[in-house]
Amino acid sequence: MAGEPPRTMSGATAGIGEAFRRQYGTAEGLRVFRAPGRVNLIGEHTDYTLGFVMPMALDLATYIAAAPSGDGRLRLYSEIHDEVREFEAALIIQAVREGHWTDYPVGVAHQLARAGFKIEGANLLIRSTVPEGSGLSSSAALEVSSALALLHGREIPPLDLARLCQRAEVDFVKMPCGIMDQYVSVFGRDHAAVEIDCRSLEHRYVPLPEGVAFLAVNTMVKHALGASAYRERVQECATAVAEIRRRFSDVESLRDVNVALFESVKSALPPVVARRAHHVVHENDRVNRFVVASEQAQLDLMGRLLVESHRSLQHDYEVSCAELDFLVDTALDIEGVYGSRMTGGGFGGCTVTMLETGAVARFRDAISRAYEKQFQITPQIYDCKPSAGAGEVS
Ligand code: GLA
Repeated sequence: MAGEPPRTMSGATAGIGEAFRRQYGTAEGLRVFRAPGRVNLIGEHTDYTLGFVMPMALDLATYIAAAPSGDGRLRLYSEIHDEVREFEAALIIQAVREGHWTDYPVGVAHQLARAGFKIEGANLLIRSTVPEGSGLSSSAALEVSSALALLHGREIPPLDLARLCQRAEVDFVKMPCGIMDQYVSVFGRDHAAVEIDCRSLEHRYVPLPEGVAFLAVNTMVKHALGASAYRERVQECATAVAEIRRRFSDVESLRDVNVALFESVKSALPPVVARRAHHVVHENDRVNRFVVASEQAQLDLMGRLLVESHRSLQHDYEVSCAELDFLVDTALDIEGVYGSRMTGGGFGGCTVTMLETGAVARFRDAISRAYEKQFQITPQIYDCKPSAGAGEVS
């Protein structure tokens, strides 16, 4: 997709054909598809109000080996869950959410069927290196790779693919997410982050400065509050828009509210709603400033914007947690670190830290030791290298 050369089988896909044969007996007609997870650098909780985000696709990805089943059955085997589930392909349009990992691929199949793509019987083997519940978008990686596997070479415009996968999550899985994760999984590119305008659904590639690294540190926790708080925030943003519209009728989403307009209306908003909107309005502004700073290699400014974003998510949007705050505060005391913030939906998952490449080894060591001492948990740390968007692996 997105004009990238196809990836070749190596690393995570080594032996995927044999694994498929072991699971299903035959590998005739086998094709392998990949869709990456992402780390969001800045622009958090701004996508569902049609604002700006700046994620990058990662090397961590979901791989699906798929072949026609020939018997009208759709079989989904997940290596991580070591479980296979079967569905009648022709009846997938009637499927409903089950609260199970299969909701993501089934939701995608359901949306494909609704969009007029015939769902054929197929056997799928799902392998993933995106840690689940880490805030690195394992769901979008599963959705997008499932769509490609089910399409099995049939064409779909990239933007339609991203939107279809988002619909699977919103309408089928019932999680009212924005477009960021699916979009960057489709449009990611080697060596560049992606600035996305979540209203026009256009993007531009932003090269990152030389000499800096981005590392994601996984708290290894995922607090149960996350899903309900996410819905609550979506609702609070809608309340803010409804209030602001009483005075400015052309405001359709928080995207239409700039800093000056917000300052003029904020006293009319209920206090909690005002704090949520304050985050979103300023976060959109930060994305635009971060893009410019990145293009001009203003490293200190980039770092400051990351920290401002975190403080805003911590105090105004209230989606952080003790583990994330600890990782950010600890990172900021380590030499060579420019900035750090939570990334993704929050309530656990990962932080992303920008640092000098020369400081990476010291940072890994210091942050692991501090986190272990504080929480008795060893954090996983991932080197975030911008990588290509979804496609077939040849
Ligand atoms: C989750 C959602 C995204 C986005 C982020 C927060 O990852 O899936 O759409 O809203 O949270 O920025």
